[in-house]
Amino acid sequence: MRVDETLKLSAVFLYVFLSCTFKGTHCELAVSPAGPPLVSAVAGSNVTLAVSFSGAPDPAVTWFMRNLPVVTWTVDSANPPDIAENRSNVLRLEKDGSLTFVNVPLEYTGNYTFEVTKSGIGKASTVFELKVFEIIQDVTLTTMPDFAIEGTERFNIQYNMKQGVIEQQMWFFNDMEIKPNSDYLMEQRSLVILEPTRSDSGRYSVSLTNPFSSVTTHINVTVLYGPDEPILEAHPAMSFYVVGDSVNLSCQAEGVPRPTVQWVFDGQNISDKEVLNLTKVQTNQGGVYTCTVLNTLTKKQRQHNISLNVYERPAGSPLCSVQSVHNNTDLQYHCRWSGGTPEAQLHFPVLSSSSSGAGNFSLNITASDNLNGRLVTCMANHPIEQNKCNVTASSPVKFLPFMRTTINLEGKIVVTIHCVSEASPGAVVSWSKGSEAVTNGAAQQISSNTTQLQIRYYNVSNFLLQNYTCTCSNPLGSQRREIQLLGPTISDSSLFPNQDGTIVTLTWEVPPTSIVTGFGIQMKGPGLLSRNLNDTKTKGRSNTFQTVLQKPGSARSVDIFDLDPKMTYWIRIIPIARMTEGEPSKVHRIGPGEGLSGPAIAGIAAGIPCSLVFLFLLAGFIYLCVDWYKNRHRQARYPVSRAVEKAITIQTDSTPHNLMHVGRKAPPDYNRLKLTPSERSVALPSFVPPPPVRVATTV
Ligand SMILES: *[C@@H]1O[C@H](CO)[C@@H](O)[C@H](O)[C@H]1NC(C)=O
Ligand SMILES: *[C@@H]1O[C@H](CO)[C@@H](O)[C@H](O)[C@H]1NC(C)=O
Ligand SMILES: *[C@@H]1O[C@H](CO)[C@@H](O)[C@H](O)[C@H]1NC(C)=O
Ligand SMILES: *[C@@H]1O[C@H](CO)[C@@H](O)[C@H](O)[C@H]1NC(C)=O
Ligand SMILES: *[C@@H]1O[C@H](CO)[C@@H](O)[C@H](O)[C@H]1NC(C)=O
Ligand SMILES: *[C@@H]1O[C@H](CO)[C@@H](O)[C@H](O)[C@H]1NC(C)=O
Ligand SMILES: *[C@@H]1O[C@H](CO)[C@@H](O)[C@H](O)[C@H]1NC(C)=O
Ligand SMILES: *[C@@H]1O[C@H](CO)[C@@H](O)[C@H](O)[C@H]1NC(C)=O
Ligand SMILES: *[C@@H]1O[C@H](CO)[C@@H](O)[C@H](O)[C@H]1NC(C)=O
Repeated sequence: MRVDETLKLSAVFLYVFLSCTFKGTHCELAVSPAGPPLVSAVAGSNVTLAVSFSGAPDPAVTWFMRNLPVVTWTVDSANPPDIAENRSNVLRLEKDGSLTFVNVPLEYTGNYTFEVTKSGIGKASTVFELKVFEIIQDVTLTTMPDFAIEGTERFNIQYNMKQGVIEQQMWFFNDMEIKPNSDYLMEQRSLVILEPTRSDSGRYSVSLTNPFSSVTTHINVTVLYGPDEPILEAHPAMSFYVVGDSVNLSCQAEGVPRPTVQWVFDGQNISDKEVLNLTKVQTNQGGVYTCTVLNTLTKKQRQHNISLNVYERPAGSPLCSVQSVHNNTDLQYHCRWSGGTPEAQLHFPVLSSSSSGAGNFSLNITASDNLNGRLVTCMANHPIEQNKCNVTASSPVKFLPFMRTTINLEGKIVVTIHCVSEASPGAVVSWSKGSEAVTNGAAQQISSNTTQLQIRYYNVSNFLLQNYTCTCSNPLGSQRREIQLLGPTISDSSLFPNQDGTIVTLTWEVPPTSIVTGFGIQMKGPGLLSRNLNDTKTKGRSNTFQTVLQKPGSARSVDIFDLDPKMTYWIRIIPIARMTEGEPSKVHRIGPGEGLSGPAIAGIAAGIPCSLVFLFLLAGFIYLCVDWYKNRHRQARYPVSRAVEKAITIQTDSTPHNLMHVGRKAPPDYNRLKLTPSERSVALPSFVPPPPVRVATTV
């Protein structure tokens, strides 16, 4: 071993000596690293900066640490190298001049210069760079402040570690390397996010490396934001809802953390759910719903409104009407469809394009002929339904007055005249008597709706028998009629016997304006007197008319029973207005004729001359009879007041046995006699029924 080293050294010295000898004066010192000039080492390990030099034997070598000499030695001298005292536990000088670091500490990182000097030859040097690293351990990332909030100025992410020397640090966002730019700032141990936004949420990583270790650490960063402007929606989306519909209102707003929701309606908190379910909505649920969204961490809040229209159809259908206003000169068209939500809009397009009303609308129009009979439509618009109604104004039409006579509790005759003309608006009736207007008083009363006039008086006299006029008018026109009141009068009468002649039906008519409150039925002839055993006075044949029946003013027919078919009767009707009797009807005869006696028939059989003479005489007799009847008819005078002296009457007409009973009694109120012909009717096979009884008659 020793021999080998001596041989090696001898060879080196020989080489140096020979090269110096042959090169002459050009012999120089040369120094170079024996490995890479950059040396990395882990703290605590042994590392050597190896050198080689040539050009002179036994030169002096010096190691500088950061320009401070720390080791000097003359090669191959017996003296040990001179090592700076405070470094002697780390630094060792090898025999070839290389510098070894034992358990190198971190602070030995630096530039080292190796210099060789030889007196008379010169000096040479070379530089090493030593980097001492620690293994990177326990890297953690922290943020400043705790939460990133959108819109703030900056947000820091920084790393901390237990130990380690970092040669390189790299930052990543969702595994993409971050390059410093306007959004990021790299500082000593941190990454700064400038004005963070929600898109900066994600995974941030830092990768730390040195030649001996590499560590990557992650942190999840959430940027808080919101709430954004909430989005309010109604499902189903409608411009309005009908009462009973169901609708969900939703309120959604972006934000981290998820914003809380509060619904407010009518000043009340009604829900904290995102979806507000309104089932079977009512009109009072219509209005503005406000949704407030709140970020519980950032305390930011926003609100938004949504309007809900809940509509209800007005009940029924629109109603149109027309009435007269301004003293019967103007027409007021009226349209009404109330109760809905909102109220229906009403207008009459035909009458006015601009005027309209809600729920209840009236339009005044001056009456004119072109409105007469014109169909006017009211358009009723409601969001749920469009509807309409029609009204036609028309002038009064021709009409027939109508009259009724009764007797009131005071015993007065009450004549009621109705004048009703169809018209729209309803006609107002004005009344006059002769040429003067009728005013309300004790005797004359116009009904509040003006359509009827009542006249009350004790008897049929000139007070009652007047000419009345009624005029029905509305803004579009008028109609007028005259009513001439007549005393009690029979206009026509007929007699219908049954087959065997025991029963007859008497019918009669009365002029429409005649004042009649009852009828007396008078008979002349044998009557049924033979059966009236307890009244001998009336037995035998009656030669004057006697009242046998009384009928109310409404009666127009009567049945007379129990007649003897072999006998002849004369029957007539007396119209009565309370105590006043009118002209009797014509006289009806029933039974075998008086002129055709048995001897006359024998004479006809005896010979034609005789018959001719007889026929001539008979014709003369018939002529005289007819003439007599005609004269009687012409003598009509009324009122013929003979009620009192002719008050031959019956107590009750339902007892034929009392027929012809004579009494002096005030006449009954005929109107209270409720008997109708049918009550006393029996089957009459050949009988043609009389026309139905009419209580009143129109003119
Ligand atoms: C470094 O050198 C010292 C002294 O020569 C020795 O005791 C130690 O074991 C060496 N260390 C390593 C890691 O080789
Ligand atoms: C060491 O030397 C290199 C190159 O010569 C230089 O870049 C570096 O800064 C030096 N280091 C120190 C710690 O002086
Ligand atoms: C970060 O988030 C991802 C998923 O988004 C998850 O897998 C991971 O564990 C999170 N990391 C941390 C450090 O919370
Ligand atoms: C509201 O209605 C929706 C859909 O109709 C339903 O899914 C939800 O459960 C309802 N919410 C409540 C609180 O009734
Ligand atoms: C929402 O409605 C309420 C009540 O009607 C009103 O006070 C508020 O100003 C409205 N807000 C918005 C954002 O329109
Ligand atoms: C109104 O009159 C028009 C035209 O005559 C008709 O079609 C419509 O049915 C009428 N409407 C009503 C509600 O009577
Ligand atoms: C007018 O009034 C009378 C009684 O006051 C009544 O009987 C009649 O029916 C009314 N006529 C109209 C058209 O209203
Ligand atoms: C009608 O009645 C009035 C009043 O009671 C009376 O003065 C008059 O004489 C009566 N006329 C007749 C014709 O009875
Ligand atoms: C009623 O009118 C008729 C004819 O129009 C007339 O003859 C009569 O005298 C009038 N009566 C009265 C009471 O004016």
